[in-house]
Amino acid sequence: MDKTYGLKKTACMMVTVFAGMGAGAGHAKDMSFKEVADALHAVMEADRTVYTRLIVNRLQNEEKVIKASEHWKDEKALVLPAQMFRFGAEMVAEKKANFTYSLLSLWPINKQNAAKTAVEKDGLKAVAAKPEQPYYQTETLGGKKYFTAIYADRAVAQACIACHNAHKDSPRTDFKLGETMGGVVIRLPMK
Ligand code: HEC
Repeated sequence: MDKTYGLKKTACMMVTVFAGMGAGAGHAKDMSFKEVADALHAVMEADRTVYTRLIVNRLQNEEKVIKASEHWKDEKALVLPAQMFRFGAEMVAEKKANFTYSLLSLWPINKQNAAKTAVEKDGLKAVAAKPEQPYYQTETLGGKKYFTAIYADRAVAQACIACHNAHKDSPRTDFKLGETMGGVVIRLPMK
């Protein structure tokens, strides 16, 4: 198995991510798939947590200034954390940055966010049982081989559980703070 991820575009991006560590372009091409996925996830998780805690949780749940809603445009509301995440993922897909990512769950409010592949199902179960241990696997989809990494998506703020537990389409109403609510799936092509 080819363990390095030699994509030029991603390598450039990784230089930015690792600038603080003194890594240059030469180092970036030696990164393993796992290292690239872990680095991408660190940025995604940080942005997601900041948006939820400093924007949604503070303004909606604590200060009660503005709410977050699926119908953010009509209701002049904040976009949901999951929408924020998906809009970013869609923009990355348009740029053809050579990797894709999504937010899925075993208990999805939106059925389109259910696991589809066997690896996604296994991975979501694995990170629900052991959130601190990411799940890594290779899978072949449409004749192409991918490195797929799945990370626990946890309830980092009261807003997460308040909204999901009360949502009419949520299959679960007993999420607790800190618990795994789903998973971030990052998929890197291996060729
Ligand atoms: C104000 C309501 C609200 C808040 C706050 C919220 N969510 Fe969601 N979440 C939703 C809705 C609605 C969806 C489905 C959105 C879509 O894909 O159309 C969703 C989607 C998700 C998904 C994808 C699976 C699914 O249920 O469709 C995960 C995982 C998730 N949220 C976890 C979280 C976590 C963790 C937090 C806190 C960091 C959070 N949510 C905050 C309402 C909310």
